[in-house]
Amino acid sequence: MEHLEKTPFPKEFLWGAASAAYQVEGAWKEDGKGPSVWDIFVRKEGTTFKGTNGDVAVDHYHRYKEDVKLMAEQGLKTYRFSIAWSRIFPSGNGEVNERGLQFYDNLIDELLAYNIEPIITLYHWDLPQALLEQYGGWESRQIIEDFNNYAMTLFKRYGDRVKYWISMNEQNYFIGYSYDTGLHPPGIRDKKRMYQANHNANLANARAIQSFHELVPNGKIGPSFAYRPYYPLNSNPDNVLAFENCEDLNNYFWMDVYVWGIYPKSAWMYLVKNGMAPQIREGDLELLQSVKPDFMGVNYYRTSAVEKNPIEGGVGIGVKNTTGKKGSTVQSGVPGLYKTTDNPFVETSNWDWEIDPQGIRIALRRITGRYQLPVLITENGLGEYDNVEEDEIINDDYRIKYLESHISAIQDAISDGVEVLGYCAWSFTDLLSWLNGYQKRYGFVYINRNEEDQKDLRRIKKKSYYWYQDVIARNGI
Ligand code: NOJ
Repeated sequence: MEHLEKTPFPKEFLWGAASAAYQVEGAWKEDGKGPSVWDIFVRKEGTTFKGTNGDVAVDHYHRYKEDVKLMAEQGLKTYRFSIAWSRIFPSGNGEVNERGLQFYDNLIDELLAYNIEPIITLYHWDLPQALLEQYGGWESRQIIEDFNNYAMTLFKRYGDRVKYWISMNEQNYFIGYSYDTGLHPPGIRDKKRMYQANHNANLANARAIQSFHELVPNGKIGPSFAYRPYYPLNSNPDNVLAFENCEDLNNYFWMDVYVWGIYPKSAWMYLVKNGMAPQIREGDLELLQSVKPDFMGVNYYRTSAVEKNPIEGGVGIGVKNTTGKKGSTVQSGVPGLYKTTDNPFVETSNWDWEIDPQGIRIALRRITGRYQLPVLITENGLGEYDNVEEDEIINDDYRIKYLESHISAIQDAISDGVEVLGYCAWSFTDLLSWLNGYQKRYGFVYINRNEEDQKDLRRIKKKSYYWYQDVIARNGI
């Protein structure tokens, strides 16, 4: 549907930007913080681009006041950040670390002083290493209690000042990377273990949401789901079926559980037949079905076309392109069910990610149609190389083009009837891209990385910083 006149963004629309603790904070062992799985994993040879790590990251831990000031000047209405579990509980459970709690108190108060609404993510992948060592992290059901205890500590401490919360960031990705491709800690490649860890994460998510609704009755909470919508390559029924298989296994497999507490049937049958179904105990489904998120958080970057995959010799798991050199997109799939394939209708970034603004409109409409929940866009952005020109000017027109086209498509979705609470661009400052080091940049604010002086880390506003300032001031494009 083409809209002659688009519906305007709501008055109270939350224009924002996002980050994650490990990617920005640094201070990896300060003020009593315990190590996270990432602190340990990045020290293993060959895990990240040129051995980069988040020991210092962009030093947000020490420079948060400067960063918040830049946010205020840009006009941000909201800032989404995550809390490092091992700052609060250095061993994952047991004794709480007051200095860790204090840091986030300070950050929240600083934001509120500028009228910036904080959005807290409970879990953005930095599991305390101690929990991996104690009982295997997400592979044990013990995590449900520990995650709930950690979450409740935060709800009690910050629930009076923070209204919007994200339970888990991209569970579909952190579980897949940790237990299927093995690219994230603990680097395991075993689908059966993956599905069990995922089931435990579902239970932990539901339990924490249950606690939230008891402790912060006026707040709102939801997961941030990495929604990559899939398309059938064409109208060949075999490809359409492959597309449906792919949606069930990669998207609805998570979102249906979040909202309805059920696994999609066809995906479940596939797991059962292949001996990969997680063990479900008595009471699990009751817990999953007793809670519902208040909104669906969506991290949107790209889409993929899907076609039939032969049972024998088809594409299995794909491994990411971490080089930043354009080539053919790395394909993934499941033999017998589906495989992803190049979409001739969309461009790709230097990391071979499809650039597809219409895809976000499609994503938002699918979520609304299926779940009837409001949506909060918790991430969207373009990772690229940036170039500092004379007079420290950074002309990131490609980023502006990406963001503008996506915001325009979101407005189309709003005009189609989707309720969108806000939009958090990824990211505010440049930050560490888990596996890609610091070469892939997403921010409105450039972080100067000087090889000789690791402490330089000067903040420089990019062209997109001013462009977004204008978008916010006008409440739209
Ligand atoms: C999603 C993740 O939440 C974030 O941590 C990551 O940096 C971006 N995707 C970009 O890859």
